[in-house]
Amino acid sequence: MSLVSRRQPEAVTLAATSPIGVFDSGLGGLTVLSAVHERLPNENLIYFGDTARVPYGSKSKETIIHYSLEILEFLLQQKVKAVVVACNTASSHALEALREKSPVPVIGVVEPGVAALARHYPEVKRAAVIATRSTVKSNAYAKLVQQHLGDVHLYQKACPLFVPLVEEGFAERQVTELIIREYLDEIVRDGYSHVILGCTHYPLLKKSIKRIYPQLTLIDSSSEVAHALQELLRQHQLLNNAPTKGEVKLYVSDITDSLLDLEKIFFGKTIHSLEKKVLGW
Ligand code: DGL
Repeated sequence: MSLVSRRQPEAVTLAATSPIGVFDSGLGGLTVLSAVHERLPNENLIYFGDTARVPYGSKSKETIIHYSLEILEFLLQQKVKAVVVACNTASSHALEALREKSPVPVIGVVEPGVAALARHYPEVKRAAVIATRSTVKSNAYAKLVQQHLGDVHLYQKACPLFVPLVEEGFAERQVTELIIREYLDEIVRDGYSHVILGCTHYPLLKKSIKRIYPQLTLIDSSSEVAHALQELLRQHQLLNNAPTKGEVKLYVSDITDSLLDLEKIFFGKTIHSLEKKVLGW
């Protein structure tokens, strides 16, 4: 099943050698960038992290759409051939608005997340998605599951403390184990067998969650996103077949003290090409 839009790009000439734009509210989306870089090592990647305005997970739909459209405009100025919305919260609220405005294809993370869940169909009967408050409020996952996997019961649970815990580097600490139990005990008790990690930061908690609940199947959409992107580029004949390794460039809206630590947490290493780009003020 393909849940990814096949909308044809119009009005711009796209080149296979052009970069792919990836954006997030902050640096958590580097987990998605990492999966894209691994699957498509020849592609040039431009990442924009809105570090001045993070978090999006507690903001309104209107604000999230506004910020996302500003980032789209910036990425289009960089002549990207496709845009990946790595942020679950932005994907949940702004995907339609972005697709309407964008002359290049746009992929979010919610559709691939549900596609990844669909791989477990029909054994899966009860699934949960854990995400930010704003993603849960959007019902984006619930709508898509209802549309494509109608008989799967999806429970949505906001886990707002997970983001700061991961950013503190506490993914494996005891305090995090307590919070995981606080949020997920009810999910396990009520018989949900599959959990979609519906936030950029949550894949970093996989090990701890599995240690506590080995019976849970955790769905991490990042490799599914990379796969969907590869398919989309192939359809549009936009895969970069250059024999050289692609470049990764990082833009942020604020250079914060925790930047280097967060790059390490989410990307595993420092990205050397870094520039500050202030948007919208
Ligand atoms: N990137 C956000 C997401 O995936 C998490 C951080 C935030 O709240 O901005 O939903």
